[in-house]
Amino acid sequence: MTNEKLERIEAHITKLNGNLTHGKRVLFLSKLIAEKESIPYDEDILVFTAYFHDVAAYPFYKDRFTGIFDHALESSKLVPELAKVYCFNDSQIETIVEATKYHDKVKMRSCNETQLIRNADGVDYLGYMAVFRDITKFPNDLKKSSRDIKTAQRTIFYDY
Ligand SMILES: [Fe+2]
Ligand SMILES: [Fe+2]
Repeated sequence: MTNEKLERIEAHITKLNGNLTHGKRVLFLSKLIAEKESIPYDEDILVFTAYFHDVAAYPFYKDRFTGIFDHALESSKLVPELAKVYCFNDSQIETIVEATKYHDKVKMRSCNETQLIRNADGVDYLGYMAVFRDITKFPNDLKKSSRDIKTAQRTIFYDY
């Protein structure tokens, strides 16, 4: 993906008040997993999905939903239109929809990108949980939280 396209995507996420740092971490972690496990993937699909997989939960769209909603399912309904803006073709959009829809559901995949995004998202979530847990338990030891998030992000549980 070109730097110009990536900058457009990041500006788009910022405009939607989305979680840009989560998107960046999911992208970084998914590429790391792919490299370590020699899993082939489409770069453009992985980048787009890393940034947009939670789009329905972003403040810009969230008000459309009431009560508890499946943010992955709702995001998968939003991504086709968003992906067209970045000139993805129908086959690529099909993969983006699958990876978005199943990014929080175990054993539901056929595409490598779905597996990569799901595992990266899970690792990032583990990092958050470790920090929240430690801040609660050890509010005066933020260094411990920082150490633990690094460890958590190294502890990858795979969903094959
Ligand atoms: Fe999510
Ligand atoms: Fe996520």
